[in-house]
Amino acid sequence: MEHHRSQSKIKDYFGDASLLFIDGSLLDHELIRMVFRRYEMDNNLEFVSSAETGLDIIKRQNVKAVFVNQVLPGLDGFGFLREMRKRGIRIPAIMMMLTGNEETALRALREGAHDCLTKGVRYFDSLPLILDRALARHELELERAERDNLIIESQRHWIAMFDAITDFIFMTDAEGTIVKANRALSAAFGKLPQDIIGMKCHELFGIDPEESCIPNKSGQPHTEERSINDEIYLISSFPLDYGDKPLTIYIMKNISEMKRLKDQLYHSDKLASLGLLVSGVAHEINNPLTGITAYTEILRMKFPDRDMEKELRKILESADRCKKIVANLLTFSRQKTPSRTLESINDIIERAIELRIYWLRSSDIEIVRDYDVVKSVFVDSQQIQQVILNILLNAEQAISELNRNDGTIVFSTRLDNAGQKVIVGISDNGPGIPKDIIPRIFDPFFTTKPVGSGTGLGLSISHGIITEHGGSITVESAEGEGTTFTIELPLPSRTEGNHVANDYADFFDGEKAVGSEKQTGGARGTKEP
Ligand SMILES: Nc1ncnc2c1ncn2[C@@H]1O[C@H](COP(=O)(O)OP(=O)(O)OP(=O)(O)O)[C@@H](O)[C@H]1O
Ligand SMILES: [Mg+2]
Repeated sequence: MEHHRSQSKIKDYFGDASLLFIDGSLLDHELIRMVFRRYEMDNNLEFVSSAETGLDIIKRQNVKAVFVNQVLPGLDGFGFLREMRKRGIRIPAIMMMLTGNEETALRALREGAHDCLTKGVRYFDSLPLILDRALARHELELERAERDNLIIESQRHWIAMFDAITDFIFMTDAEGTIVKANRALSAAFGKLPQDIIGMKCHELFGIDPEESCIPNKSGQPHTEERSINDEIYLISSFPLDYGDKPLTIYIMKNISEMKRLKDQLYHSDKLASLGLLVSGVAHEINNPLTGITAYTEILRMKFPDRDMEKELRKILESADRCKKIVANLLTFSRQKTPSRTLESINDIIERAIELRIYWLRSSDIEIVRDYDVVKSVFVDSQQIQQVILNILLNAEQAISELNRNDGTIVFSTRLDNAGQKVIVGISDNGPGIPKDIIPRIFDPFFTTKPVGSGTGLGLSISHGIITEHGGSITVESAEGEGTTFTIELPLPSRTEGNHVANDYADFFDGEKAVGSEKQTGGARGTKEP
C-alpha cells in the first residue's frame, strides 16, 4: 500500500519530465532502468556521464530531479551541486557516494544535496525510496520558502506603509533610545532610518535631554503640543507592552503650517468684522460731515468779513481731511469685486507716478525705471494704481524723513521664472522699517506717523486689493537700508483673455509692448525731468 502510494506520487511528480542520472558507469544504467520500470518511468530516465553535460541538459530540458555521482571526470559531484546553486536551479539533487563517509555526506548536504546514498551492493534497489524522501524534503523546502516570502512581503508592506506616512513615527525603549523609526523622521535629519537607531531622541532633535520626547509615566496614551526647533508638533505617545521590555511609540505631526493658516484665518475673520464696523461708522460720519462743510460755506457767504475767514477755512480744511479719511475707510471695508481689463502694468505704474510728479520733483526724489515686462495683466487698473500710489507715497514720506537729497525710488517689472506671474518691485532708500514692526504694517490702522498725517490704512487697503486679484504683496526691509515692496500678480489665463475681447489676442502671443517702451539698461537711472 505504502509502496503504491509512493509509486504513483513519484510518477505524478515527474509527468513527462526527466529524472537525470549523472554517472559514468554504463553498467549500472540497465539496473537502474529495471528498478524504475516498476514505476513506469522508463521514459523519464536520462543518463549522462559528466556534470557539464548534466547542467546543459537541465538548461534545455524539463528535469525535475537529479542523481549525481560524487566522482566524475571534470567537475565532480560537489562542483555540480555548487554550480546548480549558483545558477539558481532548484530541483531535488541526490549525491551518490563511493563510500559511506559521514563527512562526505554532510558536505554534500551543505552544498545543497537533498539526500545521499552509498553505492554499495544492490544500491539501485533503494533509489526510488531515496528519491521519494528527497522529493518530500524538497516539497517541505518549497513550502518554507513560500512562508518566508509571505513574511518578508508582509514586512515590506508594513515598512512601506510607515515610510509613506509623512508624520514622524518611531519607537523608543525605556531609556528613550530610538529602536525603530520611519523614513520621514530620518529624512528630516538627512539620514537613513538605520542611522538613527540607537540615538537618543533628544540627541536627534538637538535639544535639552530634559525636554526629550515627552515622558509618559502614566502608562496611558497621551497627546500634547510641543515647540521644537521653531516648529510646532502635535506629539502622541502610546505605551507598548512588548514582552518584558516597555516600549513607547511616538507619532509627531508638524502642525506649524496648520497653525499659521488658522492664525491667518482668524486674522482675515477679524478684518472682515472690522470692515463691517468701519463701513457702518464711516457712513454715519459722512452725513454730518456734509452738514459741517455745507454750513461752513453758508457762514462764509453770510459773513464775508476778513476776521472769520481764516477760522472758517480751517474748519473746511479739517472737514475735507475727515472726508478723505472716511473715503479711505470705505475703500478699506469695500467688498466689491474688481472690474478688470487687460492693461500694461508699466502703464499703470506710469500713471501713478504722473500723479506725484510735481511733489517728487520738488523733493528732489529720483525715479528709476527698470521695466522688463511687456505682457499685460488682467486687473482693475484703478485699484492697482491706488496700490502703487500708496506704496509710492509711503516711500516719499520715508525718504523725506531723512532730509536727504539723493532720495531714489526704483520701479521694476519682470516675469517670474515660470513665466506665470508679473513681479513688480518698488524700492526706496529711506530709513527702512524696524524689524519688530514689519509684521504689523499691513494691519489696518497701524501707523507710525504722527496723528493727523497717517491713518494706517494705505498698506492694508493695498494688501486687500492685491489679494483679491489673486496676487501677493510682501516687504523686505532692514533699518537703515531702505525698503522694497514686491507685488506678484498672476498673468491672465487664455480664457480670461478671450472672455474680454478677441482683439486682445496678441497680448498673449506676442511680445507686444503696450504704451510705454521697454526700458532697461541704458534707461536706468533716468531722473524725472
Ligand atoms: N517705504 C517705507 N519705509 C518705511 N516705513 C514704511 C514704508 N512703508 C510703510 N512703512 C511703515 O508702515 C506703516 C503703515 O503704512 P500704511 O501705508 O499702511 O499707513 P500710513 O502710511 O502710516 O498711513 P496712510 O497710508 O493711511 O496715510 C507706516 O506708518 C510706516 O511706519
Ligand atoms: Mg501710507
